Amino acid sequence: MKDLISIIDVKNYVGKEVKIGAWLADKSGKGKLQFLQLRDGTAFFQAVVFKPNMIEKFGEEAGTAKFEEIKHLSQETSVYVTGTIKEDSRSKFGYEMDVTDLEVIGESVEYPITPKDHGTDFLMDHRHLWLRSKRQMAIMQIRNAIIYASYDFFAKNGFIKFDSPILSGNAAENTTDLFETDYFGNPAFLSQSGQLYLEAGAMALGRVFDFGPVFRAEKSKTRRHLTEFWMMDAEYPFVSHDESLDIQEAYVKAMIQGVLDNASYALDVLERDTAALQKYVDTPFKRVPYDEVIDILQAHEGEEGADYEHLEHGDDFGSPHETWISNFYGVPTFVCNYPASFKAFYMKPVPGNPERVLCADLLAPEGYGEIIGGSERETDYEKLLEKVKEQGLAVEDYDWYLDLRKYGSVPHAGFGLGLERMVTFVAGTEHIREAIPFPRMLHRIKP
Ligand code: 4AD
Ligand code: MG
Repeated sequence: MKDLISIIDVKNYVGKEVKIGAWLADKSGKGKLQFLQLRDGTAFFQAVVFKPNMIEKFGEEAGTAKFEEIKHLSQETSVYVTGTIKEDSRSKFGYEMDVTDLEVIGESVEYPITPKDHGTDFLMDHRHLWLRSKRQMAIMQIRNAIIYASYDFFAKNGFIKFDSPILSGNAAENTTDLFETDYFGNPAFLSQSGQLYLEAGAMALGRVFDFGPVFRAEKSKTRRHLTEFWMMDAEYPFVSHDESLDIQEAYVKAMIQGVLDNASYALDVLERDTAALQKYVDTPFKRVPYDEVIDILQAHEGEEGADYEHLEHGDDFGSPHETWISNFYGVPTFVCNYPASFKAFYMKPVPGNPERVLCADLLAPEGYGEIIGGSERETDYEKLLEKVKEQGLAVEDYDWYLDLRKYGSVPHAGFGLGLERMVTFVAGTEHIREAIPFPRMLHRIKP
């Protein structure tokens, strides 16, 4: 409606009478006063109803009736509220409204999520309503700010959005966690990453990125895993692995800065340590070779807080290792040059050391762990073909991908960022399930 304003904008209307469309999140009252906690998706704030004001405006009978109606409004009733905005130094939000009129739009009967504490399963079963809570609103606003900053970064740095398909005839990452579906009598897979298609895009258009849902039939029940999540992949020709890390670092900093600039209300709601976020923008990220990280893990083993399993050179990290490493460095850290044995077939070996590949995982600090996986890609046709065969992949599924090495192959690199991992880290929340509107996990596909 044209004459409505948003709660987040009330600061621009101090002393003025405005109208707001909102839901009643909570309510309290005493005598002639009712305190309404209103929410409209942009913010929460308080509107105060004073009975004598209602009587003055509507007369004794109608004013009293209106006040009684307001007094009995139930949680999540939708309303148009008219009133005068004033500054309120006592509230954290800083503004409140003196109500002059209120009109009910839609009733709400026995809203299940009451202001008391509810268990996770109950909240997950009511995700369609849980999204209305203040915390969930704030996390979604941060998600939005990250998406915005992401598009902005890619546009400013010469990237073209190149949409990769969701249905695919081949695996992009590994064959163990593929979701398979029937494609007119033949098997097809839900995309695990747009990367391979983006490589074709990079050879056609230069710097490209995609952003879309990807799927992994991962049976992991951790606070970091979803079976459906959103990934931003980027790919660029004529770029070495080190230059690729520069791009990734600038990208992650741009997203954090974008949230600091455009989602300060949400960060405040979540009580996120913004000084720490600013530090990550202002401090160079660390770059540490995998083998050095293994040495450090071994050296600290058994210390307080270092209760992870022993690892040898050549072993992959588990969640506890990632958590510990990401705490140890205190800033986002690229762990570089992992063993080829557990990384994807398309990664280029480190020159002179075929056991290691030119790749990096970016680990977020504060225990959040991996948010980006990236690498320089193998450019040689024969070597790539060898890797495809070695990993037991069907050569005929990858013929189109191998073609890219036949016709003007060039050095190129790229990365993929897991949006929900980034949101969880920037929002400072505990579990990835809150970072996406409707999380899909091992035992959860509803609502
Ligand atoms: O490290 P990954 O598997 O890398 C790729 O898929 C590459 N093809 C990307 C590329 O080079 N273009 O996944 C990339 C990121 C991870 O760093 C992580 O942030 C996220 O995707 N991710 C998940 N997020 C939520 N749930 C899961 N199950 C995830 N698996 C990976
Ligand atoms: Mg990875």
